[in-house]
Amino acid sequence: MVLDQSFVKNSVWKSDIFKGKVVFVTGGAGSICRVQVEALVLLGADAAIIGRNKEKTDKAADEIRTLRPGAKVISCPNIDVRDVKSVKSAVDATVAELGRIDFVIAGAAGNFLSDFNHLSTNAFKSVVDIDLLGSYNTAKATFTELRKTKGSFLFVSATLHYYGVPFQIHVGAAKAGVDALSNALAVELGPLGIRSNVIAPGTIEGTEGVKRLVKIDDRTVSKVPLQRLGTTRDIAEATVFLFSDAASYITGTTVIVDGANWHTGSGI
Ligand code: HXC
Repeated sequence: MVLDQSFVKNSVWKSDIFKGKVVFVTGGAGSICRVQVEALVLLGADAAIIGRNKEKTDKAADEIRTLRPGAKVISCPNIDVRDVKSVKSAVDATVAELGRIDFVIAGAAGNFLSDFNHLSTNAFKSVVDIDLLGSYNTAKATFTELRKTKGSFLFVSATLHYYGVPFQIHVGAAKAGVDALSNALAVELGPLGIRSNVIAPGTIEGTEGVKRLVKIDDRTVSKVPLQRLGTTRDIAEATVFLFSDAASYITGTTVIVDGANWHTGSGI
């Protein structure tokens, strides 16, 4: 657990701003999305954690449930975002148990380093299918519920497609698509009262992505203009803002949470 009750006591947010709201999160047992959910639950939301691995997904739900007395946090394991029917079954379970969906975080992602020469077509397709098709399937499967609640989509992207990052062709292509998906959803679904935004994390310490991609040393940190790595709490704070009423006129945009790192040309 990264967050606890001190997040409520020592933060700028009111403790019950998400009371009565339900968040549906793919990749919710992973390092970044899990803390996004911790923050939302601490601030009053109920949650459905969607994941492929049963043990990991159940454990995340069980732990997050303890954060707030009365919190309802359900586990939807064995769900593959590459299959829209699989995601829809998680939506049905969420509505049956929690009654509604207000916020959707599409966070399930896959990544590994590979140069173009050794990246097979199937490897490229696997990441595009998880990151981009998976985000589309998540939006598709939850749309009917968000339409009822005038809810909000949040896609977890990256900054590495803002310029050419070697060994990340598959992820860069997928995340560029995720950004485009969100922008188009914002325009098309705005008249229904549905917002759609993207968070682009920079180098966030302790995450699966960073473990797979970056060797952290003093130089990594000193190159970041804010002179520190990002934290999962930084991403959670931005998430709370984007789902809050304070962001009610913010849609079709990307909030980059990276300490200005991508401007230096070393975005991961
Ligand atoms: C080259 C690789 C590879 C590697 C897998 N493949 N790993 N190729 N280098 N290290 C190839 C396989 O050989 C295969 O191609 C194809 O990819 C599919 O592999 P599978 O293992 O069958 O796929 P699957 O089980 O679906 O696994 C998907 C995965 C895996 C993406 C490959 O790594 C995964 O499940 N990851 C989920 C967790 C994760 O990655 N989290 C980090 C997210 S961080 P062939 O041709 O042999 O059939 C993140 C941050 C992004 O997204 C932004 C950073 C700043």
